[in-house]
Amino acid sequence: MAATSSLHASGLLNVVFHQLDVQDPDSIKSLANFIHTQFGRLDILVNNAGASGVIVDEDGLRALSIDPASWLSGKATNLVQGVIKTTYEKAEECLNTNYYGCKRVIEALLPLLQLSTSGGRIVNVSSLRGELWRIPNEQTREELADIDTLSEEKIERILERFLHDLKHNALEANGWQKMLPSYSISKATLNAYTRVLAKKYPSMCINCVHPGYVNTDLNWHTGTMTVEEGAKGSIMLALLPEGGPTGFYFDRTEMAAF
Ligand SMILES: NC(=O)c1ccc[n+]([C@@H]2O[C@H](COP(=O)([O-])OP(=O)(O)OC[C@H]3O[C@@H](n4cnc5c(N)ncnc54)[C@H](OP(=O)(O)O)[C@@H]3O)[C@@H](O)[C@H]2O)c1
Repeated sequence: MAATSSLHASGLLNVVFHQLDVQDPDSIKSLANFIHTQFGRLDILVNNAGASGVIVDEDGLRALSIDPASWLSGKATNLVQGVIKTTYEKAEECLNTNYYGCKRVIEALLPLLQLSTSGGRIVNVSSLRGELWRIPNEQTREELADIDTLSEEKIERILERFLHDLKHNALEANGWQKMLPSYSISKATLNAYTRVLAKKYPSMCINCVHPGYVNTDLNWHTGTMTVEEGAKGSIMLALLPEGGPTGFYFDRTEMAAF
């Protein structure tokens, strides 16, 4: 509500607020009812909510003063293991927010998006951590890359396998990413889900985007870009013209490989 007030003060008077917890089906239903009653349809959905899937010793992380290049390339992976911990509870929260939460919101709002006179736009905010080349396990990489055989069931079996391996302390042995493992697979599966959806609803523009390395809470303010710069990709995809690209991954404003 504070954000809404500040947007009103800057002259954006048609901004309205509604509570949403993407982990809570009742909250999603309430938002869908609100949009239906107030507007009768939905033109653009940006799924931006995200959770990191880890517990972080922030002072310890700051003390390591990792440079952005090492952070992004994976060079810092071993260095951060002492200050960034993946727990089962945090991993579940991460998958429930970044993958299942996004899917729940889309499913609830799809009927309203289909009423859009301009075809409807969905933007799933993803991450470069979800890029396929970063997944050490070849089978997982290939399953997620094969758009001809991808399905929601197949994607979710991968998430179940991940949680099973986490529970049995077998993440590294079974080729899951060492850096932010839950976050990375949540975004890789979100990208795959984006492709499945785009294939199923060809009249809409449904894409996913890495916003850049942005200075926010999510990365404990290690990011280097401003929030305004980070919003550019999402805004571009939200405002795509009719017949624009669908089923693609963008690194900020440029189309990139999954
Ligand atoms: N920052 C980066 O460098 C970076 C890089 C790649 C991708 N991304 C992606 O960008 C998106 C935005 O993240 P950010 O960097 O802006 O981080 P952020 O400042 O931590 O924002 C994350 C947002 O997600 C919301 N959220 C978390 N769980 C939620 C839930 N269950 N229901 C509804 N909202 C929930 C949070 O709401 P509350 O504040 O109310 O908790 C917060 O507004 C995320 O999807 C993230 O994965 C960010």
